[in-house]
Amino acid sequence: MAQVSLRDVSKSYRGDIYAVKDIALGVESREFLVFLGPSGCGKSTTLRMIAGLEVPTNGKIYIADKLVNNMPAKDRDIAMVFQNYALYPHMIVYDNMAFALKLRGYSRNDIDKRVKEAAQILGISTLLDRRPRELSGGERQRVAVGRAIVRKPKVFLFDEPLSNLDAKMRAQMRTEIHKLHLRIQATMIYVTHDQTEAMTLGDRVAVMKDGKIHQCDTPLNIYNEPANKFVAGFIGSPAMNFLKGRIIKKEGVFYFDEGSFKVKIIKEMNDTLTPYINKEIFFGVRPEDVYDKLFASSATPENTVGVTCDVVETMGSANHLYLSTDNHTFVAVVDAGNVPAIGGRVEIVFDMKKVHFFDPTTEKTIV
Ligand SMILES: Nc1ncnc2c1ncn2[C@@H]1O[C@H](COP(=O)(O)OP(=O)(O)OP(=O)(O)O)[C@@H](O)[C@H]1O
Ligand SMILES: [Mg+2]
Repeated sequence: MAQVSLRDVSKSYRGDIYAVKDIALGVESREFLVFLGPSGCGKSTTLRMIAGLEVPTNGKIYIADKLVNNMPAKDRDIAMVFQNYALYPHMIVYDNMAFALKLRGYSRNDIDKRVKEAAQILGISTLLDRRPRELSGGERQRVAVGRAIVRKPKVFLFDEPLSNLDAKMRAQMRTEIHKLHLRIQATMIYVTHDQTEAMTLGDRVAVMKDGKIHQCDTPLNIYNEPANKFVAGFIGSPAMNFLKGRIIKKEGVFYFDEGSFKVKIIKEMNDTLTPYINKEIFFGVRPEDVYDKLFASSATPENTVGVTCDVVETMGSANHLYLSTDNHTFVAVVDAGNVPAIGGRVEIVFDMKKVHFFDPTTEKTIV
């Protein structure tokens, strides 16, 4: 059995309004699992139920094969790191890290050894006699992580631990957490609404919306094979472009007809798309799969479209082109050297092998 298992777990705070609905998930030993989703989707509620800070309304939670629904948080052998660090302001770093061990009756020697080892792993050995107010945000975050590490718990739970840090410190701490996981090889469950954190840290990512997991898979599978339009649009930056149109079939060839342009669909998708012939559908293409024709070797008349370039955003390493047809606007990420005239026409090429189609009603991925 997995290290942490959720069996159809639901939580409602009020009547039949559910913050979390029927979550089923197993987190393997040593796995780094990320809950990713927009604000209010139920990430913290799920984590807090695993921690024992909330009681599920329905369903069962197991940690290391033990049913823990009625087990108090302190007996679950987990450690949680919060967004606001929750350090004791009047205690020095050493005592903040030692506190939970003292409560559990560890010997002074043992405490000293564990605190110093954790401080060394986190690079905060020189800060042990400072109070939290004498630390930077990043340093406080390390102390909060240190406080969790000293306990050597079965499972670490992180709730948006980096969101109070500036962008540079976030990126640095993200790498630190990655290294920490590689080093201590513990089971970690990590909540974030930041897709970069999810993609870079997670062995698997559970993408949530409205209290449900919409897809749980490796970062690459989620990027390449999103289960539905929500997941497709949530992962990737800039986000996937969605264009509404129709599938048409002419002389045995399938096309996506956007209204102002038509592109040929690759043969491999024909069978799956047959039920949608002459019906409305969403066409999805990632900005990185749209090319300027001048720079694309794969251009043919059947995957090339004339559009207007409205805005060019210079990112340094690449340019983001904001393009429009009569019916839609969409984004392309192109090489930095590729700067079309604003307001001018551009011929762009879709990489038709990489595009997706979504059902307009269920929004599930068709192909
Ligand atoms: N104690 C509570 N009483 C009533 N409703 C609550 C309570 N805690 C959370 N909720 C509701 O449950 C839903 C899920 O909340 P949760 O805190 O799990 O979201 P989240 O995904 O962590 O969001 P965020 O990214 O903003 O932290 C929200 O609609 C929230 O308003
Ligand atoms: Mg939250």
